[in-house]
Amino acid sequence: MGNTRATISAVGHYAPPDVLTNADLEKMVDTSDEWIRTRTGISERRMLVNGASSDMGARAVEAMLKNRGMTAADIDLIICSTVTPDMFFPSTACLIQEKTGAKNAWGFDLSGACSGFIFGLVTAAQFVETGKCRNAVVVGADKMSSITDYTDRNNCILFGDAAGAVLVEPSPEPGAGIIDSIVRTDGSGGKYLNLKAGGSAMPATRETVDRRLHYLYQDGRAVFKVAVIAMADISAEILERNGLTGADVDWLVPHQANLRIIDATANRMGLDRKKVMINIDRYGNTTAATIPLCLSEWWQCGKLKKGQTIVLASFGAGYTWGSTLIKWTADDAAAS
Ligand code: ACO
Repeated sequence: MGNTRATISAVGHYAPPDVLTNADLEKMVDTSDEWIRTRTGISERRMLVNGASSDMGARAVEAMLKNRGMTAADIDLIICSTVTPDMFFPSTACLIQEKTGAKNAWGFDLSGACSGFIFGLVTAAQFVETGKCRNAVVVGADKMSSITDYTDRNNCILFGDAAGAVLVEPSPEPGAGIIDSIVRTDGSGGKYLNLKAGGSAMPATRETVDRRLHYLYQDGRAVFKVAVIAMADISAEILERNGLTGADVDWLVPHQANLRIIDATANRMGLDRKKVMINIDRYGNTTAATIPLCLSEWWQCGKLKKGQTIVLASFGAGYTWGSTLIKWTADDAAAS
C-alpha cells in the first residue's frame, strides 16, 4: 500500500416522488402531526410504490455517473449497503450492476443498517487505497416501507424510502479526501432493534406472518438513550484525535433518525445548526441512504464545496456506529 488516499469524487441520489405526510399517517394510526414533528423532526417521507431497493440504487448510481462524466462500464466495484435487499440472493449489488450496465464491476451487499453507508465507505476506501480497484461505488439504498408495519405507530412514522450513491477514487491531493474514520459495533444492542423472522433463526411460517415478525421491531426509548450519546461521542472523538474543533468543520452530515439526536451531536461538537445537513423533515429515516442523500442534495445546490471539511456520523441497528472525517475534493456542482 502506497501513499494513496481515497476520496469521494462524485455523488448522486434518487428519492421516489410519492409522499406520505404526517397528515396521511394521522388517518392510519393514533398519532398527530404535532407529536411526530416535536419528537422526531419529520414532516413527510417518500414511498416507493413500485419497484425495489435496486431500482432506487440504480437510479442513484446513474445520477452519480452523470455528475462524474463517466460510464457504468468504468466502475470496478459496487458495494450496496442495505437492510432491505430485493431478496436474500442474488445481492442487490448484482442487481444494480445489471440494471446500470456496469459490466466490468464486481460487487456485494453490506449489512450495517443506519451505519451501512459509513461501513461501506470505509470498506471501499481500502480497495482504492491498496490499488486493488481503481474506483468503488458505495450505494446506500433502503425501501424501508417494505419492512414497516403501518399499524405500529411507534415505528411507522419514522421511516422512508430513498437511495444515494458516491464514487470513491484516489484523491487528487494527498492531504485531502477521506482523512480518518472510526467504526464500532456492539452486538448486545441487537435485541432492541431488529427484524426477527425470515432469516435462518426464524424462517417464514404462517405464524411468523400472523405475529407480524417480518416487520422492523424497535424499542425506540432504549435505542434513543444509546444513540444520542454514541453518535455525539464518536463525532467528538474524530475531531479530537485529528486535532480539530467544531470551528474547523464546515458541515456535519449526520444520520437522520431523530432531530434531537442530530442536535445533541452538533452541540457536543460545538457546531451551530447552520453547519448541519438536515433533511429528516422531508425524508424521515431512510437508513443507509440518509448520508449520501444529504451529500448529494447539498452538493447539487452548491452548498457543499471543494476544500470544505465535513464529518459524517451514524448510529443504527447492531448496534453499529461510526464517524468519518473528509476534506471534500469533488468539483463544485456549478463547475462540473
Ligand atoms: N404518536 C403519538 N404517540 C406516540 C407515538 C406516535 N406515533 N409513538 C409512540 N407514542 C407514545 C408512546 O406510546 C408513549 O406513550 P406512554 O408514555 O403513554 O407510554 C409516548 O408516546 C412516548 O413514547 P417514547 O417511545 O418514549 O417516545 P420518544 O420520545 O422516545 O420518541 C422515538 C420515540 C422517536 C422512536 C425515539 O425514541 C427515537 O428516535 N429513538 C431512536 C431511533 C434511532 O436512532 N434508531 C436507530 C436508527 S434506525 C436503524 O438502524 C434501522
